[in-house]
Amino acid sequence: MNSSFAHWRKEFPILERCTHLISHSLGAMPRSTFDRLHDYAELWNFRGIRAWSEGWWDKPLTTGDLLAPILGVAPGSVVMHQNVSVAIALIYSCFEFEAPRNKLVYTDMNFPSVMYVSEAHRRAGANVVMVPSHDGIGVDTEAILAAIDERTLLVPISHVLFRSAFIQDAQAITRRAHEVGAMVVLDCYQSAGTVPLHLEEWGVDFAVGGSVKWLIGGPGAGWLYVRKDHRTNLEPRITGWAAHEHPFEFEVGPIHYANDMRRFLHGSPGVPALYAAETGYKIVAEIGVDAIRANSVRQTERMIAKADDLGLVVKSPRDSTKRGGTIVLDVPFGKAVTQELNRREILCDFRPGAGVRMSAHFYNTDEELDRALDAIRSILDTKAYAAHMNAKTAY
Ligand SMILES: Cc1ncc(COP(=O)(O)O)c(C=O)c1O
Repeated sequence: MNSSFAHWRKEFPILERCTHLISHSLGAMPRSTFDRLHDYAELWNFRGIRAWSEGWWDKPLTTGDLLAPILGVAPGSVVMHQNVSVAIALIYSCFEFEAPRNKLVYTDMNFPSVMYVSEAHRRAGANVVMVPSHDGIGVDTEAILAAIDERTLLVPISHVLFRSAFIQDAQAITRRAHEVGAMVVLDCYQSAGTVPLHLEEWGVDFAVGGSVKWLIGGPGAGWLYVRKDHRTNLEPRITGWAAHEHPFEFEVGPIHYANDMRRFLHGSPGVPALYAAETGYKIVAEIGVDAIRANSVRQTERMIAKADDLGLVVKSPRDSTKRGGTIVLDVPFGKAVTQELNRREILCDFRPGAGVRMSAHFYNTDEELDRALDAIRSILDTKAYAAHMNAKTAY
């Protein structure tokens, strides 16, 4: 661990109890989240209905503003939703999938949320084109660029792939999409908080993500970014009174959309989740994603070197410029090995078709990473374990 981060460890109580290498799935809870959730309950309890005008109603925007610097966008560019599925469905609901421009280009390495919402739009007329990965690690950028043409409406791609931590070339894909009049929806769930983002500079049209992982903000705080020039002309069909220009006029009939990011809201916000998320954003912003990234690159390089020494097969890119904060290991009986690691209080996970996923966030020490990899080696070397597993079907 970079010693300048050492003092942060005490702010994450779970680190005292286990080896927490699972920030790609659920980041450790900041101690300050207890207080922030208490603030939420206090406001409700003491101010009652006035809580709405004293912060609750605006929470999807004010929380989005805390996230803005981490995403590399201006304040007023982000609204909060429950999760990526809802955010992406809301963006799709702005469009007609009518030929000739009805093509949706994505890859088989996208996260299922984006995949399932995209596939479901076949029923709405979308011509869904899936670009395959040939090695289960990355997707050839040239193949994605070649699939994007004048018939393409949207390109929903993952920035960092959840199965391998491969970083896709978001800028090249955005350039190509714009050349042919298509739009990019960038899923930044596996990059926000660990890989620096400059969404405005890159020109992506839309971006989505959540707070469960590297942003250490917990569940229920998905986010949506919309580029400025799309904020006044799109009309989402997934909508509600919070998207109205004057919600408290309770107008009868069709909606008059707000002319800013509120246009991309729907009904009442999930307030407690947003209180919880803020503590994570503040910590990530205070440390700075550039500093987090520098440490993450150093630690993931250390993990790869150690895995090589131990004879463990790495299924993440070796080039750190193409790799996010996770290392995936193709370990025999990976699911069972992961269960044993979890039993030993080493938190990591297993994904079929990928392997054992372990991540390094700013609060992890080098010793924790070494210990976890040594533990995998020792589990695999246990004779009884091997015999037991040989009697079973491989996972
Ligand atoms: C790249 C990526 N996108 C999206 C999600 C989650 O989607 P949702 O917010 O719909 O649960 C995950 C992980 O849970 C992910 O890794």
